[in-house]
Amino acid sequence: MQILNHPTQVEIKKSAKALKDGNLVAFPTETVYGLGADASSKKAVSRMYAAKARPTGHPVIVHISSVDKLDKWAINVPDYAMKLAANYWPGPITLILNRSDIAQDFITGSQDKVGIRIPAHPIALELLYEFERIGGLGIAAPSANRFGSVSATTAKAVVAEVGKYLGGLDLVLDGGQCLVGVESTIVDCTQPIPIVLRPGAITSEMINSVTASKVDIQKNSASTKASGLLRSHYSPKARVVLNGKAESQDGFIAMSSFPTPLGAIRLASPTNISEYAQELYEALRFGDSINLKRIIVFPPEGDGLAEAVRDRLGKAAQGQIKN
Ligand code: TXA
Ligand code: MG
Repeated sequence: MQILNHPTQVEIKKSAKALKDGNLVAFPTETVYGLGADASSKKAVSRMYAAKARPTGHPVIVHISSVDKLDKWAINVPDYAMKLAANYWPGPITLILNRSDIAQDFITGSQDKVGIRIPAHPIALELLYEFERIGGLGIAAPSANRFGSVSATTAKAVVAEVGKYLGGLDLVLDGGQCLVGVESTIVDCTQPIPIVLRPGAITSEMINSVTASKVDIQKNSASTKASGLLRSHYSPKARVVLNGKAESQDGFIAMSSFPTPLGAIRLASPTNISEYAQELYEALRFGDSINLKRIIVFPPEGDGLAEAVRDRLGKAAQGQIKN
């Protein structure tokens, strides 16, 4: 594996070629780092699943560079989905759509639906653009972490998570820390109204405001396979306890207005919700790096992105949170 630090245009071009040749390329997006594979190559995608230890049958998001590529991957795209795409792409929202023939079973988990996203990150967009220029159709990229673990928001975290499972020709593009810090909003657009499967930085209010429909929030769906919807996910090694009493040597994460309990080890003190989302995964990761047994977390209050943070924390704590 090779790490390319703030890759140049030439290096991104080479990375696109490496992807097209069947290698894996981890890259930054505005949400979290993705572990990219050619979405048309069964072999490359199965290597990516192996590097993540992800059970087969869990669908992955296909990343594309522009809305005019959507028709290649999806059919019968409803008007409201086109409005979401027009307003929020490139950006932290994934649309689940009825698939076309090129979205094969190894991408969709054998479902008739495919998840599509245009990420808002200059390195990701340049990589997609170069990949498509040499005939690629889309980059399949789940979060660049081992299955069930905390997503990576830095290149260092990518290497710590999956580095030893990557091959000699695989690449990690280092673009610094991700801006949003939690994964994209996932919206099922195969029903008469949009249904949020995973909350993120594009909030229900933002979805309502452009689709003029009352978005439905579905926390869990028997018919839709979404690994991020499993109760236990996004978990560090340390036990995450929400709103608990911190004791000596416990990690502690809360808004800066909360004082650090005596003897606890402060891992983050964000001053607003965006900072909370941006810092959360690195804080959990740091707790693991110093072998903490427990991390006490006070989740942020409020709507919007706070909801996404509470969702991930609830899963990290294995469903202890009540919404
Ligand atoms: O922000 C993000 O979405 C990041 C960056 C890299 O784009 N990606 C990401 O991928 O979080 P992943 O695989 O860790 O989470 C994507 C979620 C999974 O829970 C997956 O099951 C769900 O999206 N998903 C993907 N395709 C789907 C489909 N066709 N139907 C239902 N759920 C789908
Ligand atoms: Mg993930």
